[in-house]
Amino acid sequence: MDMIIKNGSVVTASETVKADVMISDGKIIAIGSNLPTAGITVVDAKGKLVLPGAIDVHTHLAMPFGGTTSADSYLAGTRAAACGGVTTVFDYPMQRKGMTIKEVIDSKKAICAKEACVDYAYHCIITDLNDGAILEEMASAVESGITSFKCFFVYKKEGMMVDDGTFARLLLKAKEVGAMINLHAENPDLIDYNIETFLAEGKTSAWYHYLSRPEYVEAEADKRAVHWAKHLQAPLYLVHMADKEGLEAAIEARKEHSDIYIETCPQYLEFTCDVYKREDGRNFVCSPPMKGQESQDALWKAIKNGEIDVVATDHCPFQSYEKDWGIDDFTKIPNGCAGVENLYPYMLSAANQGKISFNRAIELCSTNPAKIFGCANKGSIAVGKDADIVIYDPDIDFTITVDKMHSDYDHTIWEGIQLKGYPIQTYSRGRLVYDHGDFIGEPGWGQFVKREKR
Ligand code: URP
Ligand code: ZN
Ligand code: ZN
Repeated sequence: MDMIIKNGSVVTASETVKADVMISDGKIIAIGSNLPTAGITVVDAKGKLVLPGAIDVHTHLAMPFGGTTSADSYLAGTRAAACGGVTTVFDYPMQRKGMTIKEVIDSKKAICAKEACVDYAYHCIITDLNDGAILEEMASAVESGITSFKCFFVYKKEGMMVDDGTFARLLLKAKEVGAMINLHAENPDLIDYNIETFLAEGKTSAWYHYLSRPEYVEAEADKRAVHWAKHLQAPLYLVHMADKEGLEAAIEARKEHSDIYIETCPQYLEFTCDVYKREDGRNFVCSPPMKGQESQDALWKAIKNGEIDVVATDHCPFQSYEKDWGIDDFTKIPNGCAGVENLYPYMLSAANQGKISFNRAIELCSTNPAKIFGCANKGSIAVGKDADIVIYDPDIDFTITVDKMHSDYDHTIWEGIQLKGYPIQTYSRGRLVYDHGDFIGEPGWGQFVKREKR
């Protein structure tokens, strides 16, 4: 159905203009003033901002992890995404020994075809090269629209870690086939040593989750990965960066023209490691953990300077009873927290309060993710793009509470956080999927986003 969004301020990564946006067949077909309105649906956005939908390039939906499965199904996670102004979600399906990339992705596509409420794409986690077969398969995966692959330097006991040789092979193959490697960087041996020491000393609270993987543990792995990417001249995307030293190393390498991209997450911008001293500290357990104030300040500085490329969530919630497994032993707490519904409202609230510009918030949450990961039809309000649009009311005072969220989890680390401004409507390819607090979309509406190679 044809539709026009009138009287709003259209915000992109580069400009803010008063303009009307005309939509037909799920696409933006015109932007301007005095566009014709006869016979079409008119949405009045007076006093509101008209923004591109966010792209959360880091979620773990229904992921087997930490002795359980993350609490949001593809349906619940993408429903929550829609209600937080996220119109494309990237998931991280995991390849295990013996499995092909195609098998992994096809099984997720079958689920998303029925459940996804917004559009979706996949980065495939690689845990085993299957004697080189995975490297052989990467070119065809790229042709099918899977243009990024993830490695873990951690989760050794869980069988998810790759060693440096595997990482180097993946970096080189990705470069050759027009893909990119995403990396979770922490040093597994330091973590294991610290854990062993703390448990032997009876130090079992959530605070020791932080102390077993503090700043230097992440920094060592960041620097190692940056070193490899720099010398192999391969693209590298560092996920969920949380520490100052590693961040600065990545920024320095980029100044020397290394093809490195930096992601951080809202939880690292809002919370410090002090949360692990709280009675409910286990609920904040994720890896890497929140760091100290110095790291948080460095992250905000890099956000403001344009040195961080993407803010995404690492959405991986668990229920309270699962977090409680670790009340007496921090190593038993499933790692991960909620965020997909909070990403855009949080970053836009920061903009609304003058910490960054709205243009920068959009660049971090929508335009850069689309560019970096090859989503040609997403990431801006422009003629020819998908009509993935958020209408944002800058005057709403919103306090986050779990009952206002649209996920399946029973608690959130964002409880009580106050935001200035909030999305009031989300359109996914021109279809209204979220309206003033309510999800009104449809499971199965979301489409696979076939990405372009680098
Ligand atoms: O704690 C986290 N981040 N859980 C999800 C898996 C990962 O490491 O990204
Ligand atoms: Zn990770
Ligand atoms: Zn993650």
